[in-house]
Amino acid sequence: MELSKVKNYDEMSMEAAKIVFEKIVNSNRLVLGLATGSTPEKMYEYLADMLNKNKVDLSHVYTVNLDEYVGLSPEDTQSYNYYMREIFFDKVNIPLENTKLPDGVAEDLDRETEAYDEMIENLGGVDLQILGIGRNAHIAFNEPGTSFDSGTHVVDLTESTIQDNARFFEKIEDVPTKAVSMGLGTIMNAKSILLLASGEGKKQALQDMIHGKVTEEVPASILQRHHDVKVITDVEDIKL
Ligand code: F6R
Repeated sequence: MELSKVKNYDEMSMEAAKIVFEKIVNSNRLVLGLATGSTPEKMYEYLADMLNKNKVDLSHVYTVNLDEYVGLSPEDTQSYNYYMREIFFDKVNIPLENTKLPDGVAEDLDRETEAYDEMIENLGGVDLQILGIGRNAHIAFNEPGTSFDSGTHVVDLTESTIQDNARFFEKIEDVPTKAVSMGLGTIMNAKSILLLASGEGKKQALQDMIHGKVTEEVPASILQRHHDVKVITDVEDIKL
């Protein structure tokens, strides 16, 4: 694991954007795994700026997102589909057909989860996976207790995640209680991983991820077993 300590959210976002930008311009074909949430927002903003200023063609880039809420259609402003278009896809010249997120309103969700893993496999796997981390050390929506071998699956969100995500909704009752999420096995198959964490609220999760026991009770601890993980964080007193 590699650790980059930065001063603040802005520096974290800029460093991450540069890494992704370099990957994009230095590849003939690239599969990017993308995250949503507050953490990567500014990274997407910087990345879109860099790509547009340099007139980078993105037809060789494919994206697969980590997760989507069950019950929210892509037109729903709270959906991750909507977030990604608003914050990134619509701002750059990526062909929309190259961008994939789970379908949270699929009639057969089990079939959708299988199809999502097949789709990732058919793309040749994820080259670079961007991750955030939850306060309970979840990655994607893999809550404590999720099997390390899991593929894409339907998840019951924990109370702590529902509360954390309530800030994006008018009232807590509006927060979906289920999501479709890439599994920990899916994430571990990525060739390289870039995890971003900002703010003291993520300190315990980072400590447990880096130094704790590798256990399904701490989903992010599985990353200790991945050979190419870079963490960028502004959280103080985090060491390898
Ligand atoms: C989002 C995702 C989640 C978030 C995590 C942190 O696609 O997979 O694991 O990365 O919940 O969320 P924020 O960044 O809002 O603190």
